[in-house]
Amino acid sequence: MADIGVEVCGIRLKHPVMLASGILGISAETMKRAEEGGASAVITKSFSIEERAGHENPTIALFKHGILNSMGLPNPGARAMAKEIEKAKKMCRVPIIASVFGKDADEFVKACEIARDSGADAVEINLSCPHVPGTGMELGVDPNAVKEIVTEVKSCIDLPVFVKLTPNTHALQKIALMAVEGGADAIVAINTVRGMLINPMMKKPELSTIFGGYSGPGILPIGIYCVYTIYSAVGQSVPVIGVGGICRGMDAIQYFMAGASAVQVGSAVYYRGYSAFSEIANEIETFLENEGVNSIRDIIGIAVR
Ligand SMILES: Cc1cc2nc3c(=O)[nH]c(=O)nc-3n(C[C@H](O)[C@H](O)[C@H](O)COP(=O)(O)O)c2cc1C
Repeated sequence: MADIGVEVCGIRLKHPVMLASGILGISAETMKRAEEGGASAVITKSFSIEERAGHENPTIALFKHGILNSMGLPNPGARAMAKEIEKAKKMCRVPIIASVFGKDADEFVKACEIARDSGADAVEINLSCPHVPGTGMELGVDPNAVKEIVTEVKSCIDLPVFVKLTPNTHALQKIALMAVEGGADAIVAINTVRGMLINPMMKKPELSTIFGGYSGPGILPIGIYCVYTIYSAVGQSVPVIGVGGICRGMDAIQYFMAGASAVQVGSAVYYRGYSAFSEIANEIETFLENEGVNSIRDIIGIAVR
């Protein structure tokens, strides 16, 4: 039997396939559903201090290579989400990681403090959403802002801090290095890729916000490239967590070989159902066994030159 257990920032996971933020993680019940589907950890929907309604519909467009969304980070606010996390901590055995966002360091800190008080095992700071003005990737493409926000969060809470980055930049290595300088405990890559679709019959964009974030199978090469690039810059100073387009075990294997220590899965739930997590984990294990590899740790970064 190949060993597919991993440890990320002191958090032990029975396998490396976690639930990505924004899919299922909005209530304790849906987090439990992800656990039942085999996710080894759950990242919550990103939340802000105050509640947010999100964008007007249509906010989702499906097409053959993936999903375009501009949900606009709808969430019930940090205090309501804290209640869901407290409940999830009682219902689930897997670690619960709180994803937070804000418009500046102060808002990130306040949301992280509420997450910590709720019992979350770690926080993931969303510096990468591509379709909400004033937050997400607008902050995450500025290396100085990234460092400042991470530094402030690290100085106020003593939980592991994951920093989720955007692929929509030419300065990814610099941004990742600044996150590490600020004290990031792990780098997560990638969030969705900015994109748009036009409805030819209606002669207008599919989404109310014109552009949105692209996820699913079509972004696999972009995510692998970003993880490779980040791993090449940060080395083994912090773990890199790969996300984007993972639908099969073989997709995840490519992320590990590019330097990822663990992965997150989002859109595949749409394609494979809730059991996507356990199925992908089983496929990873089968690949390692067929290749005669004893431990997943033996292939991390193996393709990086
Ligand atoms: C409908 C939807 C909502 C999302 N919401 C969030 C979110 O709240 N916070 C976040 O960091 N990422 C969010 N994401 C991005 C995912 O976590 C992930 O980074 C991205 O979808 C790429 O992974 P995938 O191809 O496995 O879906 C969302 C993605 C989708 C499709």
